[in-house]
Amino acid sequence: MALPLWPSKPGSVANSHSCLGDGVTELWDERAQAYRDSKTHAEGDDLDLVVEWCAPGPGRKVIDVATGGGHVARRLREQGCEVVTTDSSPGMKPDVVSRAEDLPFADGSFDCAVSRIAPHHFGDIGRAIEEMARVSNDVVVIEDTLFSSERHEQAEKLRDPTHVRNYTEDEWIEFLTGAGLEVEQRQLFEKVHPLEDWLGRTGCEGEEAERVKELLADRMTDDGVAWTDVKLVLKARKSQR
Ligand SMILES: C[S@@+](CC[C@H](N)C(=O)[O-])C[C@H]1O[C@@H](n2cnc3c(N)ncnc32)[C@H](O)[C@@H]1O
Repeated sequence: MALPLWPSKPGSVANSHSCLGDGVTELWDERAQAYRDSKTHAEGDDLDLVVEWCAPGPGRKVIDVATGGGHVARRLREQGCEVVTTDSSPGMKPDVVSRAEDLPFADGSFDCAVSRIAPHHFGDIGRAIEEMARVSNDVVVIEDTLFSSERHEQAEKLRDPTHVRNYTEDEWIEFLTGAGLEVEQRQLFEKVHPLEDWLGRTGCEGEEAERVKELLADRMTDDGVAWTDVKLVLKARKSQR
């Protein structure tokens, strides 16, 4: 597909380094292959629902924000969508290197804006959701980890310093309605994370890994080799008002 690159603001940059300058981008570059290979990201009922709620079909224009290993984009393209992927990490090889908080596209460029298991990394979540609402002319679909406890937050940050925050369902409704969207559907999924793979993807090892396991003790599976979290999937539509 020819990329609909209509820079909406002077200075917007497409397909070049976004210069976050805080080491976060470099960290993600190093992890790119691990996220492409991750089974947790590449499949699951949660992914199936995200794809379904994007209403895929030939010619539907979708932006996959913070695409990571590109699993949502791959599935949507298989169903005929014209997908543009964005990510702040050049190593993820998105179509356009861009922060979610500053999408270089004109208003209403896409039929659907989707972001899966990524918003908890965004530095300014409110701004990012406003941007997704702005560039979509129809639907916004989000999947992210549901907030469960401060211990869980500590574990996530220790395992991955780029983790910013998981949010509650109420906070999500506020972000979406605050961006002029009406929430139409939501669904929760329990997701199981094999511990060694999950820790390995971000290079968390030694004492830190042991502390992460302690912090997640109440969420471990009985055999102790995995832990579970809950993902929230939301579909919101542009308000007609
Ligand atoms: C867990 S991965 C995304 C997973 C992917 N969406 C999937 O379904 O497999 C998180 C991604 O968010 C990206 N990211 C982090 N902060 C970002 C930001 N502010 N704007 C855009 N992308 C960001 C990272 O570079 C990384 O590729």
